[in-house]
Amino acid sequence: MPSFGDFVHAQFKLKIEPPKTSFSSKTVIVTGANGGLGKEIVKHIIRLDASQVIFACRSQSKGNQAKREIEALLKCNSGIIQVWELDLESAASVKSFVEKANTLPRVDVLINNAGIQAFGNNKAVYDTERTLAVNIIGTFLLSLLLLPKLRRTAQEYRVTPHMTMVTSALYDVAKYPEKHGDDIFTWSKDESHVDQMNQYNLSKLLQLYATIKLSSIIDPIDTDNPTPIVINSLDPCFCKTGLANGLTGVLKVVLKVFEWIAARPAEEGAALVVKAACAGRQTHGRYMRSGEVQEYKPIVLDEGKAAEVWEALCRRLERIQPVR
Ligand SMILES: NC(=O)c1ccc[n+]([C@@H]2O[C@H](COP(=O)([O-])OP(=O)(O)OC[C@H]3O[C@@H](n4cnc5c(N)ncnc54)[C@H](OP(=O)(O)O)[C@@H]3O)[C@@H](O)[C@H]2O)c1
Repeated sequence: MPSFGDFVHAQFKLKIEPPKTSFSSKTVIVTGANGGLGKEIVKHIIRLDASQVIFACRSQSKGNQAKREIEALLKCNSGIIQVWELDLESAASVKSFVEKANTLPRVDVLINNAGIQAFGNNKAVYDTERTLAVNIIGTFLLSLLLLPKLRRTAQEYRVTPHMTMVTSALYDVAKYPEKHGDDIFTWSKDESHVDQMNQYNLSKLLQLYATIKLSSIIDPIDTDNPTPIVINSLDPCFCKTGLANGLTGVLKVVLKVFEWIAARPAEEGAALVVKAACAGRQTHGRYMRSGEVQEYKPIVLDEGKAAEVWEALCRRLERIQPVR
């Protein structure tokens, strides 16, 4: 959990300016683009002159609706936004999305924004609990399958592509289950192992373990690759979005009051996401909060846990998409 001072700074004091770096000639994929932070991320990126934005949404109709709203607001060319179906709970959907993405001339930026907090709807997906399935398994399946495209874009266009994970400062309060057998994902499938108050935080912690591991393998900071990519993550602050819509009862009331007091508009959180999605190579493998790189809290630096999460994730992804 951020300290009280950090929280007050991020929620009340920090002045978040609209992002300014140009995305001219770039193709950007934003997952979960139809609402919440995703829709605001797209607005910023279009204002910054992106040539193509792929709206990756699990509902085509919600995506079309958001596209119409943005086009009317920004008076932009209707060819800039393309709405493509992507359901991170379905390996078939992820794979067909990637096949389509591979036909694009280039992919400069992948913003892994889609995420859930599956309160009370923890049915198993990919043989694990649903929050972990969407926030980790589906997200990393997509990311790893798109990596070669980002790589080719870097080489052919001499640019620095970005893969940005929208995570959460709540990673720091996650309780990591110490006794989870061989595989934390299989263990989490059992509903009796799911702590509803912890599951989202845990998903964001596991997302960071996997992101750090991935960035240590792909173009580590001391690489001699002349066209490396940037893999980074960020916390977008606490923002008013649909993330807690699945809550019910007292918890929902408490969160709504807290949201009214402290949450920032989604547009501001989205500005922080866009800032990370064009940040320099020095952010590779790092985590940003309030628009700056912030050191990881000790729980993330546990290499043993990071290694076991990464191995369990790789085993699972290998089952879904065997490496040829
Ligand atoms: N809001 C905050 O305060 C906050 C703070 C820290 C981090 N975050 C992170 O920010 C990201 C965006 O969340 P948000 O706050 O904007 O919440 P949101 O309004 O609920 O948006 C989440 C987006 O993810 C999409 N999504 C959910 N499941 C999906 C799936 N299986 N396949 C594809 N897309 C899926 C949703 O689509 P549907 O509309 O179809 O459900 C929606 O577009 C999340 O990763 C969240 O963890 C948010």
